[in-house]
Amino acid sequence: MTLATAEQSAFPVSDIDPFSKEYLGDPYPYHEQLREAGPIVWLRKWDCWATGRHKEMNDVLADPQTFSSSAGIGIANFNNEKPWRPPSLLLESDPPEHTRRRAVVGKVLSAGNLRRLKADFEVAAEALVERILEKRQIEAVRDIAEPYILKVFPDAVGIGKSGRENLIPYGSAVFNAFGPQNDIYRESMRGIEPVSEWIMSNCRRENLRPGGLGSEVYDAVDTGEVPPDEAPILVRSFLSAGIDTTVHSIGNALWCFATHPDQWKKLCANPGLVRSAFLEAVRFESPFQTYFRTSTRDTSIAGVPIANNQKLFLSAGSANRDPRRWERPDVFDIERQNLGHMGFGAGIHGCIGQMIARLETEVLFTAMARRIASIAIAGPATHRLNNVLRGLDTLPLTVTAQ
Ligand code: HEM
Repeated sequence: MTLATAEQSAFPVSDIDPFSKEYLGDPYPYHEQLREAGPIVWLRKWDCWATGRHKEMNDVLADPQTFSSSAGIGIANFNNEKPWRPPSLLLESDPPEHTRRRAVVGKVLSAGNLRRLKADFEVAAEALVERILEKRQIEAVRDIAEPYILKVFPDAVGIGKSGRENLIPYGSAVFNAFGPQNDIYRESMRGIEPVSEWIMSNCRRENLRPGGLGSEVYDAVDTGEVPPDEAPILVRSFLSAGIDTTVHSIGNALWCFATHPDQWKKLCANPGLVRSAFLEAVRFESPFQTYFRTSTRDTSIAGVPIANNQKLFLSAGSANRDPRRWERPDVFDIERQNLGHMGFGAGIHGCIGQMIARLETEVLFTAMARRIASIAIAGPATHRLNNVLRGLDTLPLTVTAQ
């Protein structure tokens, strides 16, 4: 449903298309336009409301009763149209079901479980750094980000070794499907059926290593905390949300360091900064840029009336550089107080996997900072366009040993 034209025109209206190749290739000038147009803006192209400001995004995420996730966190409105796959039982659900499921998954991803994984991550990171130093000239997405995550994360979940290459196209398709059915979406959906079948087969109990994170979800079936039919879809959440996001966060962070050599030197001199350095990279170049909510009643934001069942486009990438919230927002500063950024979301759907993502990346960057003195760009970096993710396809680098 579109608003009546007269009513709409009393509020900022924008022709920005956040799913165009121009926007996705370089979103930052568009973010600024969106933020400066107003706290809430009508996107004419997609007949939906949008905000690029930190405060309004935070307000929306803090009120899940009014701004629901169960109608989909992409542009498709599941109240009006059929989702392409059974919706996520976490990301695309509301309380009370969401609360119950999140408690179970929170236990599986508990600090105790993560502590047990750290030693394996360290072994993988050390071996990777060794290989990088032998090569010196590397392509960081294929030599660091993808092999590291495709080793440590599926190992942690308890997925077999063969077929892991399916995880990247699956993640790409899942995130592209949060956008409209444009060329980028169609390209990533080509040949997706066997990939989806591989994913669902690896979410079955008999294919998960006992003791892994996936099989712990099934342990919650035995205790009656999770209905049996929910378990494979909950395991699927790990595989959908835990690969591309983290691969991109590593590629983006390496790009930040290569283009800000002083910040890499600072990290090498003080490895204790690794936690805030990674969070700053997620603020500065957010991998998960865009998601939606759907209004559940007539309401208003910043004085703008929002009708029931309207989609709201939320730009985390823009909120993370909103000058109303951040000093020098366009500066990559690993010592910044960056708590409260939207790179991992906020409120009840805030990323439940962020502790494992942070552990994976902190271990990797600690190992790199110990052995690698400098990281320099060695050729043009290219982006892998995705409707809602921001990440690199290629990042040629030269690395120098300490
Ligand atoms: C740097 C890497 C990551 C980034 C940037 C990221 C980002 C996000 C964001 C922004 C949300 C909130 C979306 C919303 O509110 O609609 C989210 C939710 C979620 N993430 Fe992550 N994520 C990352 C890694 C992971 C990993 C490794 C896992 C798997 C364990 C994971 C699993 C999830 C799940 C299951 C949710 C839904 C939580 C809920 O609805 O309660 N994420 N993530």
